[in-house]
Amino acid sequence: MNRILIRNIDTLAGVEYPGRERKRVCGAEMSEFNVIRNAFLLISEGEIENFGSMEHCMYRPETAGEMQVIDAAGKAVLPCWCDSHTHLVYAASREGEFIDKIRGMSYEEIARRGGGILNSARRLHETPEEELFETASLRLREIMSYGTGAVEIKSGYGLNTEDELKMLRVIRRLKQESRLTIRASFLGAHAVPAEYKGRQEEYVDMLIGEMLPRVAEERLADYVDVFCDRGFFTVDETARILDAAGRYGLIPKIHANELDYSGGIQTGVQFGALSVDHLEYTGEAEIRALKGTATMPTILPGAAFFLGLPYAPAREMIDAGLGIAMASDYNPGSSPSGNMQFILSMACIKYRLLPEEALNAVTLNTAYAMGISDTHGSVAIGKRANVFITRTLSSLAYLPYAFGENKVETVIIGGKVVQG
Ligand code: NIG
Ligand code: FE
Repeated sequence: MNRILIRNIDTLAGVEYPGRERKRVCGAEMSEFNVIRNAFLLISEGEIENFGSMEHCMYRPETAGEMQVIDAAGKAVLPCWCDSHTHLVYAASREGEFIDKIRGMSYEEIARRGGGILNSARRLHETPEEELFETASLRLREIMSYGTGAVEIKSGYGLNTEDELKMLRVIRRLKQESRLTIRASFLGAHAVPAEYKGRQEEYVDMLIGEMLPRVAEERLADYVDVFCDRGFFTVDETARILDAAGRYGLIPKIHANELDYSGGIQTGVQFGALSVDHLEYTGEAEIRALKGTATMPTILPGAAFFLGLPYAPAREMIDAGLGIAMASDYNPGSSPSGNMQFILSMACIKYRLLPEEALNAVTLNTAYAMGISDTHGSVAIGKRANVFITRTLSSLAYLPYAFGENKVETVIIGGKVVQG
């Protein structure tokens, strides 16, 4: 059966009307998250075919023929979350470092002692590709059950050519075998590997001269990423990498300003980054640099929460007219959760976004930050049918309000019920 009719929907949310679809929302527009009360949604051949008020629903279950009919009385239907920043291919969790952090060690200190990203790189090196694929598949199924329909996944735990390619091949296979929409980013510049300690520039040379050509030749990445921050890669190194990647047509999505006013935001903007991510250290100069550009500022609340970092000034950024996206950063070191419902709650609780702004930040704006907002991130005719049906819900604001509770009951990805 390739048609699904969802009827009697209490609130159909995240709707965009024909001819008025937006690629992203910025500033005051972020509080427009259109809803239709008492609505229907018709899905056909994996896409959204029609929607509207129940009064105008001409599809009758009795006469509709081959059609799966779902009654959503008392429930809401929303576009699936798009998670535009994750590192969910990894070999092992790092709860040992979690305890070190509780005892007072900082993320940067752990990294300097050879832990952190280098710890994950050692484990990844020892782990067979098949096992990486299996564990990442489980994580994909888990995030799907919380309502995620599209996800970006980075390399960056390889840090040598073979292991970076191994990670990217795992992501390619996930793309082929999962129903989720997946985008891959090459993050060879995530940390300087142990064997290059004290020779950072040589690592960057190798990344540009050896890794990038292989990644590009095998078409393994959609985007390029650099961890441009204090103690990791400098703005000059970042510029060199982004410049080289640009020659292979790779657009940047970079880690910036998590640990300091690193200049990463400005460098990302200068190279036409699709997104700059983290942004704990964002001031007036950074906001000015972002204004009027195509770069989506992306905040990663899970990492700020888990590492005890200052929260990015999201409210000020929106009030200055910027769009904001929020993603999970799912990874074993700084955000061991891919639950976008928690990110939605954080957006309201810690960053003071209104529920509608927060919902846009985790749907349309993250779709934009993955380069897929033409086909994902809202309920619009012709878009991929990635939607979820909630449990019985008192109002949309209940979604961010009731943090920790799974409010998602049925998940439909590409027009197929995958859960519920
Ligand atoms: O986005 N900030 C840099 N990279 C990751 C953390 C990776 C790790 O610690 O394993 C992040 O937070
Ligand atoms: Fe990250």
